[in-house]
Amino acid sequence: MNTKVTKAIFPVAGLGTRFLPATKSVPKEIMTLVDKPLIQYAIDEAREAGIKEFIFVTSRGKGALEDYFDHAPDLETSLRKKGKTDLLNILKTTNMDSGAIAYIRQHKALGLGHAVWCARRLIGNEPFAVILPDDVIAAEKPCLKQMVEAYEHTGGSMVAAMEVAPSQASSYGILDVKNYNGDVVSINGMVEKPAQEDAPSNLAVIGRYILSPHIFDNFDYIEAGAGGELQLTDAIAEEILQGRDVHGFRFKGQRFDCGSKAGFLQATVSFALAREELRDELYDYLTDMVSMKTAAQ
Ligand code: G1P
Repeated sequence: MNTKVTKAIFPVAGLGTRFLPATKSVPKEIMTLVDKPLIQYAIDEAREAGIKEFIFVTSRGKGALEDYFDHAPDLETSLRKKGKTDLLNILKTTNMDSGAIAYIRQHKALGLGHAVWCARRLIGNEPFAVILPDDVIAAEKPCLKQMVEAYEHTGGSMVAAMEVAPSQASSYGILDVKNYNGDVVSINGMVEKPAQEDAPSNLAVIGRYILSPHIFDNFDYIEAGAGGELQLTDAIAEEILQGRDVHGFRFKGQRFDCGSKAGFLQATVSFALAREELRDELYDYLTDMVSMKTAAQ
């Protein structure tokens, strides 16, 4: 079995109803933080971690995603004629090598686990990554790269993990921690969206995974879980029950929940402040806003 992680699955079939009406005709993954769509952040992170094959699990109405990663000959010709090399270079980051990207449809919204399972034939018998584009992580070393490096020592499967407030447990997969060993956490199990009082820890799964292909077999054993959906968390928990290694990995970086409006706005501000050409103007504006709010109080 190839042990290098070179394939990644991007589950992008969700309807994005929290962002209606914007998502009525635009896939939520195309929504932009400053000037880059969410999906581009995910792809850039995957590339930096050594991913060579990109598998999108899509659904009806996600055609704009396919166009986004295609060449745009008219636009490119017009930019070339005008000598706009900087913009042409930006466009290049959206292009994929022929055959490096695949789209597969999830015909029914049966859950994240089911979405990942839909890609099983494209993965074959090698470990693979899963990236949830809603979770945007700002980090000096991209989160998935940190995980790939840790995984080279641990093997097994690995999920990104982050501490959350106890009141937030019911929004996440939560780890049942055996012991902490620096960034790598041994776990006894995982539970999807537990009630606060049932949460086994305050360590939550964040949308980056490195998984053994064996996980696909587990869908024969698990049933619909939280929310009546086939959960990826349950398929990973089944790995542990069967005695296979699964680790949590406490990544370094700041995670934004871009599946929520507040998280999306925070990410927008944060990424804008990180851009030299926007920083000063935005900072002045935010400072004025804060002092106006303070004065009003
Ligand atoms: C999914 C996973 C959950 C994980 C979360 C991270 O939930 O099912 O285990 O903690 O992503 O963002 P969702 O946010 O899709 O409900």
